[in-house]
Amino acid sequence: MKHPEIEKRIKELMSEMTLEEKVGQLHQAGGSLVGAFDLTLEEILTMVADGRMTEEEGHNMLSEARRDWHEDDLRAGRIGSYIGVLSAEEMNRLQHIAVEETRLGIPLINGVDVIHGFRTITPIPLAESCAWDMELWQRTARMSAEEATAAGVHMTFSPMVDVSKDPRWGRIAESAGEDAMLNGLYGEAKVRGYQSDDLTRHDAMAACVKHFAAYGAAEGGRDYNRVDMSPQRFEEEYLPSYERAVKAGARAVMPAFNDLSGVPCSVNKKLLTDILRKRWGFDGMTISDANAIAECINHGIAADRRDAARQALNAGMNMDMTSGCFLDHVKELVEAGEVSMDTLDEAVSNILRLKFELGLFDDPYRSNAEEEKAAMLKPEYRALAREAAQKSMVLLKNSGLLPLKEGVRIGLAGAMASNGDEMCGTWAGAVQPGDCKSIRDGMDEERIGYAMITEEPLPDCDVFVCAIGERKAESGEAASRASLELTEADIALLKRLKESGKPVVTVVFAGRPLCLGPAVEYADAVLMAWHPGTEAGPAILDLLFGRVNPSAKLTASFPAATGQCPTLYYDHIRTGRPAGKFKYTSKYLDAPVEPLFPFGFGLSYTSYRYSEISATQTGNGIHAEITVQNTGDRAGDEIVQCYFRDPAAQRVRPVRKLAAFEKVTLQPGEIKRVAFDIPETALGYYDQDMNFVIDDGLIEIHIGGNVRDTLLADVDYRNA
Ligand code: GLC
Repeated sequence: MKHPEIEKRIKELMSEMTLEEKVGQLHQAGGSLVGAFDLTLEEILTMVADGRMTEEEGHNMLSEARRDWHEDDLRAGRIGSYIGVLSAEEMNRLQHIAVEETRLGIPLINGVDVIHGFRTITPIPLAESCAWDMELWQRTARMSAEEATAAGVHMTFSPMVDVSKDPRWGRIAESAGEDAMLNGLYGEAKVRGYQSDDLTRHDAMAACVKHFAAYGAAEGGRDYNRVDMSPQRFEEEYLPSYERAVKAGARAVMPAFNDLSGVPCSVNKKLLTDILRKRWGFDGMTISDANAIAECINHGIAADRRDAARQALNAGMNMDMTSGCFLDHVKELVEAGEVSMDTLDEAVSNILRLKFELGLFDDPYRSNAEEEKAAMLKPEYRALAREAAQKSMVLLKNSGLLPLKEGVRIGLAGAMASNGDEMCGTWAGAVQPGDCKSIRDGMDEERIGYAMITEEPLPDCDVFVCAIGERKAESGEAASRASLELTEADIALLKRLKESGKPVVTVVFAGRPLCLGPAVEYADAVLMAWHPGTEAGPAILDLLFGRVNPSAKLTASFPAATGQCPTLYYDHIRTGRPAGKFKYTSKYLDAPVEPLFPFGFGLSYTSYRYSEISATQTGNGIHAEITVQNTGDRAGDEIVQCYFRDPAAQRVRPVRKLAAFEKVTLQPGEIKRVAFDIPETALGYYDQDMNFVIDDGLIEIHIGGNVRDTLLADVDYRNA
């Protein structure tokens, strides 16, 4: 929402700015390739030697090593923003140049990927989404903002709300899984947590919703690949999560790398102007993904960098993350009339507006070295990271082995048992070695006795805890996988432990659903720990020993075989020949069609009974209720899920669609009546002509503890 005083100040400033100064505001300078500023000659040579950088990359950077290349540009007013400055002192130094040494003293904005914590790392978003808990998501976002802003961050490139239905895509780790509603709610909570209710607070940072749009639908689960879908599916399944996060008040949006049905998002006017500005009324800033404007040449859409700059600016892109296309070409494009001054002014205004909203003009120096030091890894932050991890890990199997009894003799095995740094997962750039606690660290901290299992023979113990799965480098951006199977080494270890005859608990670390068949076959209990962050070890022990009752539920389906991707997701359609025993039905010869673990699934140390479902139309919606009882001997939190199905529509509809959910705490024996109100709009969809329609007729309501195990109630719905 525009503030008159800010608009007045923007207008006044714009009237003083030269064309060059306006263009400078569009440019975000990046650190060196690996995100650090001004790598020294030695560091570059080392990185080339150890493969962290190619020869060519190293060569390109050598010319800039040790040269304050960006500071020359900064003084000349050619930089409006930085990406990746990770210290208050460095940010103040750069800010001082911008504010004190340039003609107009326009402050910088510093953007950083604060995705699931800054120095205190919480579970990766896919993990935290399994808590189905908006209040928790907001609290962890608030914490990360307090740490990040103390280190000089003004904007985070988060939340990512890309609906992700294909676990081969490494960035599913950064999402809230396969459902549109959960991604939207996750994004809304994160925006509120990051920005607080006053963006000028020193501990508030602007949220940047990404990646707009439908990046999670990359064909084949291969990162950066094409996205092509019907406009109906786009509007129904992929657009809603961005809309919810934008309407929560996010002040920036980042278009995605991918093309959307042939037009790269970076130059997609329908997305960046028609939908984002005209339909949703967004008045914040758009910022490209890294180098994405230049990459429109690779897409085959732009003839050269000048053409890419022209198309992006005219489509509604405001800031250029590190490609330099705007800095190099916008002046001449405006002078040639290929980009109007109005278009340029609109882009610059959106950038200046965010800087005014953050209070950077009046208060450009937001922290310092001692405030930064004091802000990191506070005990209350570690406690919150531990709580978030407890609420994010999903108990997938338990034959009765868990919870373990205190004092049990443990044999600790597996490649993921001892390495704390692996616990943080993708996008944990500010973490220092030793910050994060592995299972072994947790056991040492609690003085729990254990024997490390490395070679034969297996020591004498009561139970094996086997830590396996993906390393953080195998997850996140540019980490697509063609196979989701466990490694041969992990399977062999599980088999060996099973053959010992001793009970086995498997703790799986990963940034995505994996094919856990061998873990289920060889272990008596399976805990999906994801990449749980700073307090991984203590939180896992809290769950294994039953100090906390597991409550998390999957937000992404787990495959029985990689080949089930990408059709695995829960809100799939039925087809004319739903899978069945008859040969000629939609299934595989060599794999089941059902997931190994369905969406919404998660076990507890107690049990729940669902009964007495009811559903009725109330005005322009459906009111549904169900009774849930805790039938076990300990308290628990149960995520009650309400789905619907439209069995006879004008277009094929999902077999289930999440409509609402409620997390309820139940004491042993306690019974609760849980109610849901489904708005009529949730039932709607787009017909062949893109009319939004709500059908008269039967609507099925399915309620239960996961998408597969539900009770059914029918409603004969009459469209108001
Ligand atoms: C990356 C990612 C994006 C991130 C940006 C800045 O390539 O796609 O999510 O925010 O660059 O690091």
